[in-house]
Amino acid sequence: MFITLEGPEGSGKTTQAQRLYRFLCDSGRQAILMREPGGTALGDKLREIVMFSGDVPISSRAEVLLFAAARAQLVEEVLLPRIREGFIVVCDRYADSTLAYQGYGRGIDRSRLRSVIDFATGGLTPDLTFLFDVPVEIGLSRNRSGQLSADRFEQEDLDFHSRVRQGYLDMARAEAQRWVVINATLPVDAVWERVREETLDRLGTP
Ligand code: TYD
Repeated sequence: MFITLEGPEGSGKTTQAQRLYRFLCDSGRQAILMREPGGTALGDKLREIVMFSGDVPISSRAEVLLFAAARAQLVEEVLLPRIREGFIVVCDRYADSTLAYQGYGRGIDRSRLRSVIDFATGGLTPDLTFLFDVPVEIGLSRNRSGQLSADRFEQEDLDFHSRVRQGYLDMARAEAQRWVVINATLPVDAVWERVREETLDRLGTP
């Protein structure tokens, strides 16, 4: 089983991913928690480049390919082997982030992005995807209050982040059987309760 967590900046999905992972382990299931970009030695290097490039310019197409390279490595090195062994794989961001940020956000043609994603992942698609939906202003202010240096994406303007959020909502509507949309302005325990219920429901256990 492959579960991904998606959302705009400051949606709280990383907290929920960690909680879900701990819950699965505590209930005796084999699980791993990964994040994108990252999770492999190559992925961690690419994360540094694509998020904090400093003065080094990165074109939109190059950005797509950097995320795709990190993802290709993660799929081959970690995700596929663990899924084959029966692990529940929890991933904080995955291919839908590329469609939301590079597609809806940067305006890159989404059918071309889907080809790149398909090449990088060999077609590995999540069984269940949570969207933690939060108004852009709230998400950005949550993030900015907690850290000193914003990454390349947090520095984008409100319009960019509004397109990302709307993109996520469109994708969730278009593929409703895979996505679960959760109002991420609710208290963290209420959000967690929905994540837990939906996950147990999909796992088919009480
Ligand atoms: P991260 O610190 O993991 O942010 P968050 O806590 O919001 O998940 O940063 C990942 C950033 O990279 C985030 O701003 C979204 C962006 N991103 C893309 O633009 N495309 C992608 O394919 C992925 C995986 C991430």
